[in-house]
Amino acid sequence: MTNTLFPPIRKAILPVAGLGTRVLPATKAIPKEMLPVFDRPAIQYVVDEALEAGIEHLIFVTGRNKNAIEDYFDRAYELEDTLRMKGKTAILDELEEFLLPAGSCSFVRQQAPNGLGHAVGCARAVIGNEPFAVLLPDVLVMSEPGCLSQMMAAYRETGGNLLAVDRVPMDRVDQYGVVDPAGLGSGRLTPMKGMVEKPKPEAAPSNFRITGRYILQPEIMDLLADQIPGAGGEIQLTDAMARLMQDQIFHAYEFDGISYDCGDKVGYLTATAAFALAHKEWGGAAREALVSEIARRDGITS
Ligand code: G1P
Repeated sequence: MTNTLFPPIRKAILPVAGLGTRVLPATKAIPKEMLPVFDRPAIQYVVDEALEAGIEHLIFVTGRNKNAIEDYFDRAYELEDTLRMKGKTAILDELEEFLLPAGSCSFVRQQAPNGLGHAVGCARAVIGNEPFAVLLPDVLVMSEPGCLSQMMAAYRETGGNLLAVDRVPMDRVDQYGVVDPAGLGSGRLTPMKGMVEKPKPEAAPSNFRITGRYILQPEIMDLLADQIPGAGGEIQLTDAMARLMQDQIFHAYEFDGISYDCGDKVGYLTATAAFALAHKEWGGAAREALVSEIARRDGITS
């Protein structure tokens, strides 16, 4: 039976202030979240995942040069008018579908790139005193239902704090937050006894990487407010979570799906191919194009 004791998760923070240095020069003048993953900006997939999970309010933590994100979620009157006059109703309907309900998003500025923990802390006033989700738009998860929906179902059973995890090769753990599991879990849930941001492989407690989807209790905000810089000289969400774990329960949730890290060039390319191949309308054509392009390149290089 579903436990209804835990307060619902209504709000989600999407930190979108990052500079996208690993995908330069593509991100010199365009926010990395606006780079297309096949036919829509990367951020659209993450927003869809949040809405599917029942999120009612999205808080974008933005920075300078990120106005395109705000514009993307607004109406584009001139464009819509032109499409209407030309009778392009299918694409008009699609644009309408992507529009967020009025009043359902807030934009908060992070004034300096001080780290993920600092970015999440910038949303404190909008979050107030309720549990919330965090979705990192660098990471796209292909799954049915979405990763956050899966976590919501688990949260309704466990409450507390929940981190989505998946396994990465040991030689890549130093790029991520890594979970220290406390014994064996049940099913996809594992209780945690620690976590560490960007450990060296020999010091990593596991190869369970924190994938970029979180359900957190509001007390994390107090800890973020006085969190000292950690890995990379940045205020790390992982460090504040590790402190919160002294008082509260944390579970790692091994979701059912595949994650793509769009924060680096090959990860981004892989995501683009994967979402093109999975596209209902264009998947077949995308497959043909990709297979023939690879065959052509092989022909050239062999
Ligand atoms: C952030 C988090 C890290 C997490 C990663 C997922 O790191 O700090 O714990 O594993 O996202 O992509 P960043 O990518 O900002 O270095």
